[in-house]
Amino acid sequence: MAKYRIRGEQKLEGDIRVKGAKNSALPVLAAVLLSEKPVILHDIPKLIDIDNMVLILSSIGCKIKREGNTLIVDPSSVNSWVIPDKYVKEIRSSIVMLGAVLARMKKALITYPGGCEIGQRPINLHLQGLKKLGVKINDSHGYLECQADRLVGANIHLDYPSVGATENIMLAATKAEGTTVIRNAAKEPEIIDLQNFINSMGGRVAGAGSNTITIKGVESFHGSEYRVLPDRIVAGTYLAAAAITGSEITISNVNFEHIQSMVTKLREAGCSIINFNNSVRIKAPTRLRAIEHTKTYPYPGFPTDMQALLMSMLTVAQGTSIITENIFENRFKHVPEMIRMGANIRTEGKIAVIQGVNRLKGAQVNASDLRGGAALVLAGLNAEGETIVENIHHIDRGYEGLEQKLRSLGADIERL
Ligand code: EPZ
Repeated sequence: MAKYRIRGEQKLEGDIRVKGAKNSALPVLAAVLLSEKPVILHDIPKLIDIDNMVLILSSIGCKIKREGNTLIVDPSSVNSWVIPDKYVKEIRSSIVMLGAVLARMKKALITYPGGCEIGQRPINLHLQGLKKLGVKINDSHGYLECQADRLVGANIHLDYPSVGATENIMLAATKAEGTTVIRNAAKEPEIIDLQNFINSMGGRVAGAGSNTITIKGVESFHGSEYRVLPDRIVAGTYLAAAAITGSEITISNVNFEHIQSMVTKLREAGCSIINFNNSVRIKAPTRLRAIEHTKTYPYPGFPTDMQALLMSMLTVAQGTSIITENIFENRFKHVPEMIRMGANIRTEGKIAVIQGVNRLKGAQVNASDLRGGAALVLAGLNAEGETIVENIHHIDRGYEGLEQKLRSLGADIERL
């Protein structure tokens, strides 16, 4: 298993560019199935999760070519509604294929995705919504056999604004007869991106970004050329990297609006941040200040995907910070690893109390999920001495060339 060796205490300096968002690219790739015409997608990051999604699409008959960060997808010969188990187990977000395959084929067979490193991750809201559109679901022996004679528009109220459920229902409703209204929909920027992509192929979706999304069913879609939105979590990761190392860097291809909640926290911690021409420049103080209390919430609240990254910074801030993780129940797995590096963190249930120390100390630590793993890399950049982060395949799921980008900024990090 690959690992990172990091020699900390180096200041970062320079410019980097963020690629397209993984969490946009995945549903957009599923949405390609709505059309029978080729689609060209730009700025698709090179990540294990994306590779797996490409393998799923190929396995059901799509022809896909990658040229750098561009994917050319020809969905004209899709001929299967069976989503292979091995990929669903590898990449939990492949559940978003369900809505797209149903829209295209009116049936789908997928293994139940089950829990993952960060929590149980039920899909009850996805299934309730699809049933409202007329899908019959037989849940047996760990498989979901889904079939609809007709997909019919419906009024759907989500109990919780789930990102995946909103995407799955949007996708299935695009070809339903009549109009679907999703209330209490997720408002994440990736939902707006999915709407924009669907509409670029001739769909009629409106309201994404608000809590009510309206989808008018259409019979057919055309091809499209589309660029996915910049990855706000990756941008936040590099901002946190600058903060924890007391550095000054510039990050380009950033939608400033999408990172507001993180920018607010960084400013509270004493960083100065300016936004210009789709770029953001951060200048961190020699010592960060503690942040009173951060609670994760659905967008535009502080994102759960940034929780571990914020925590890594706060381990070296002056004073006591509190973080409450409201979204996923197992998202503090980085805490014992940070404690091995000298951090002073106590957790109780979903609350973490972080008492800042002057500097972390290098140690051998284990990445057990994507963002928690990235947070350990940030901790290693601060730490005195050598840090080994093991199991970095988790990090490879969401960061293209993390070590190259950090090295270009002056970090001492290598893949072993
Ligand atoms: C998306 O996951 C992201 N993944 C996650 O990013 C992100 O952490 C999460 O949204 C929250 O922002 C992708 O976009 C591929 P949810 P998703 O459905 O769609 C509960 C990363 O690091 N829930 O909004 O699975 C659920 O248990 C990943 O890139 C139900 O109860 O998130 C959780 O508590 C990790 N029933 C909450 O809702 C359901 O049917 C939020 O989940 C669905 C969800």
